[in-house]
Amino acid sequence: MKITKICCIGAGYVGGPTMAVIAKKNPNIKVTIVDINEERIVAWNDEDLSKLPIYEPGLAEIVAETRGKNLFFSTEIDETIKESEMIFISVNTPTKTYGKGKGMAADLKYVELCARNIAEVSTTDKIVVEKSTLPVRTAQAIKSILHNTGKDVKFEILSNPEFLAEGTAIQDLLNPDRVLIGGESEDAIESLASVYGSWVPQERILRTNVWSSELSKLTANAFLAQRISSINAISELCEHTEANVNEVAKAIGMDSRIGPKFLNASIGFGGSCFQKDILNLVYIARSYNLNAVADYWEQVIILNDHQKRRFSDNLISTLYNTVSGKKIAMLGWAFKKDTNDTRESAAIYVADHLLNEQANIAVYDPKVNNKKVQADLNYLNTRSEEENNDLVKSYSDPYETSKDAHAIAIMTEWDEFKTYDWEKIYNQMKKPAFIFDGRNILDKTEMENIGFEYSSIGK
Ligand code: NAD
Ligand code: UDX
Repeated sequence: MKITKICCIGAGYVGGPTMAVIAKKNPNIKVTIVDINEERIVAWNDEDLSKLPIYEPGLAEIVAETRGKNLFFSTEIDETIKESEMIFISVNTPTKTYGKGKGMAADLKYVELCARNIAEVSTTDKIVVEKSTLPVRTAQAIKSILHNTGKDVKFEILSNPEFLAEGTAIQDLLNPDRVLIGGESEDAIESLASVYGSWVPQERILRTNVWSSELSKLTANAFLAQRISSINAISELCEHTEANVNEVAKAIGMDSRIGPKFLNASIGFGGSCFQKDILNLVYIARSYNLNAVADYWEQVIILNDHQKRRFSDNLISTLYNTVSGKKIAMLGWAFKKDTNDTRESAAIYVADHLLNEQANIAVYDPKVNNKKVQADLNYLNTRSEEENNDLVKSYSDPYETSKDAHAIAIMTEWDEFKTYDWEKIYNQMKKPAFIFDGRNILDKTEMENIGFEYSSIGK
C-alpha cells in the first residue's frame, strides 16, 4: 500500500518525536498526531516553541521545520483515522492500578479504546501499527476487535516497538541501531519499511513475526535495566571493600563481550519504561506458570528499590540519624538529564522517604516546575497535599536551593551541576556541609578540598 497519510494516536514522549522525524524525512507524507488531551495538543501547536509539552534536545527545531507543512497536531481523531492509510497507536500503557494484575500487568484500556475507535470509523483499508510497548500476544486482541466490525474493511496489524531513550530521542530516531517490524503481511511490512527507508539503511530494518517483535521490546528493556541493577549491586559491595565502582565498570566494560554502555552506577533507574515493562514481563511469565523466570526478572526491580532506599537511609544515618526539620537540597527531579519527564524518577521516592522523616526539601531542576514536583508526590498518597506543599519547595536557582541546607542530594546528572560555583554553595550551607552524589558526577577530591563531606555511589 502506498502511504500518503499517517495518523498517530498519542502525542506523548514517543508519538511526538517519532512522528516529527518521520515527517521531516518523508516530506510527501502528511503526518497528523492526535490526542484526547486537548491541552497537550494546544501546547504542541504553540507558536512559542519553548512551550512544547515535551523537552527533548533537537525536537523544537524539527517541529519548527515541519509543523503546518506535513506535520499536524489535532484533536480531530475520527477524521484523521478516516483519511489515513497507516495508523500508529502510541498511547500510554501504564502498570494497572486496579483489578487483576494490579501493580504488575500493563493496562491496555487505552490501546483497546484506540482499536475500537479505528474499527468504528474506518471506511477504507488500514495498516495499524503498534508503537506502544505491549505485552506479547496483544496483536491478537487488536486483531479480534478490528476483524469483527462487520464492515468490508481490511486491517493489517504490525508491531513496531520504539527503542528511543528520552533525552537522546532525536539522535536515536535519526540514527537507530535497528528498526523492528513484526507482522504477517509482507505487503504491510514493506509499506512501513519504506517509510523508515527514507533515512534508515535497509539492513537495519529487521523484519520478524509479530510475537517476536512484541517480546523483543520487553526483553530489550529488561536487559538494559538488568545491567543497571547488576552494577548497582556491585556498587554496594564496593562501598564495603574499598573497590571503586567506576574502576570496576571500566574494567569489565572493556571486555567486548560485556561492552562499556549502561554501566553507570546510580541512585537507581527511573523512567516510564523499565519498571513497567519488567513488571509486565514478570506477570506474563507467571501467567504461564514460569515462576523461576518471573523470580529472575523480578530481582532487577527488587534491587532497584533497594538502591533507592539505601541512598536515603545512608543520607539519614550520615546526618546523625535525623533529618527532622533539616533542609535537604535536591538537585534534579527528572529521571535522567535532558528531559522534563519525571515518571518513576528516583528523586520522588527518595524525597518521600526523607519526608517520612520530617525533612524539609528544596528542589531545583532546570526543566521541572513545582506543580509537577507536587503532583508526583501527591500521586504517592503518602501524606496530604497540604503537607507536601508545606515541606517541599521548588526554586528556580540552585544557589537559593542550597542556601542554609544541611545537605545536597544530586538526583539527576544534569551537565550544569558540574559547572556550579561549589565554593559559593559551600559557604552558604550549614556546617558540616554534606553532598550525596547519587550520580557520581562531582570530583570527590575537589569537593573535599572545598570542605564538603562528600559521598557517592560505589566508592
Ligand atoms: P505519554 O503518556 O507521554 O503519551 C501517551 C499519549 O496518549 C497521552 O498524551 C494521552 O493523552 C494519549 N492517549 C491515551 N489514550 C488515548 C486515546 N484513546 N486517544 C487518543 N489519545 C490517547 O506516553 P509515552 O511515553 O509516549 O509512551 C507511549 C508508549 O510508548 C507506551 O506504551 C510506552 O511504554 C512506549 N514507549 C515509551 C518510551 C519512552 O521513552 N517514553 C520509549 C519506548 C516506548
Ligand atoms: C529506556 C530504554 O533505554 C529505551 O531503549 C526504551 O525505548 C525506553 O526505555 P529511557 O527510560 O528513556 O529509555 O532512558 P534510559 O537512558 O534507558 O534511562 C533509564 C534510567 O536508567 C534513568 O533513570 C537513567 O538515569 C538510568 N541509568 C541509565 C542508570 O542508572 N545507569 C546507566 O548506566 C544508564
